[in-house]
Amino acid sequence: MAHMTSGKLQGSLLSLLCQLVQARRVLELGTFTGYSSLVLAGCSSVQSLVTIERDPLAAAIARRFFERSQNAHKITLRQGDANRELALLAQRPSSSCAHAATAGAGGYNQSLCGRDTLLELEIGAAGVGNEEGEWEAFDLVFLDAGKRDYAEQRAVLLQHNLIRVGGLVVADNVLWAGAVPLHSEALERGEPSATAQPRERHEKVTRALYDYVAQTAQDARWQQLVLPLRDGLSVCRRVA
Ligand SMILES: C[S@@+](CC[C@H](N)C(=O)[O-])C[C@H]1O[C@@H](n2cnc3c(N)ncnc32)[C@H](O)[C@@H]1O
Repeated sequence: MAHMTSGKLQGSLLSLLCQLVQARRVLELGTFTGYSSLVLAGCSSVQSLVTIERDPLAAAIARRFFERSQNAHKITLRQGDANRELALLAQRPSSSCAHAATAGAGGYNQSLCGRDTLLELEIGAAGVGNEEGEWEAFDLVFLDAGKRDYAEQRAVLLQHNLIRVGGLVVADNVLWAGAVPLHSEALERGEPSATAQPRERHEKVTRALYDYVAQTAQDARWQQLVLPLRDGLSVCRRVA
């Protein structure tokens, strides 16, 4: 299970990136047991972190860690599907509906999204509003849930201005144990694919991650650097 969490080195990088952009509002897709959430929430610039986890068992474990943290008040854990939660965030009403975002437990859930079902594991209710309670885009988003969903998730972030210009979208596992570079080399040779393990799911994830990185490189709205750290980290800055 150790490969599921970011680990110390990647955690240090996430923390550094957070401080570099002076991130105040952070969104994480894929909490697992909460390691990266705690690293991000521990950054002094961060006022609020929303993290989304589908697996109730993982969410319950993360919750226990969050409750023991001195940064618990910054963290909102939402148990549910990341794509669905993102779609709900994208439907955020005007700032008038977000006015209670910082007002206390439950305020974020009910005022931002107009619903009260999925925030069962809410910890801090820090929400995503500023001190005046108005909606503000995220400064940093960490994509670490379904690997095949990255492109769509980032498209939603952009389309609905959930990420600010100058903000970062960081995506984990983009090298996929070396399969993505192998796939890239095969395409350059005119071959359809070359993954080390030709299992169907592995193949689909490899292609999806390759497409994510390749499309980003062609997209003038993003400046990307792929770091060969652990399983590969794509760091994208929104430039327009
Ligand atoms: C790699 S782990 C996250 C690790 C964590 N970010 C860290 O670095 O400590 C991926 C997590 O995403 C969750 N996940 C996968 N697909 C998801 C989805 N569609 N919606 C929400 N969570 C999902 C999994 O249950 C798993 O706990």
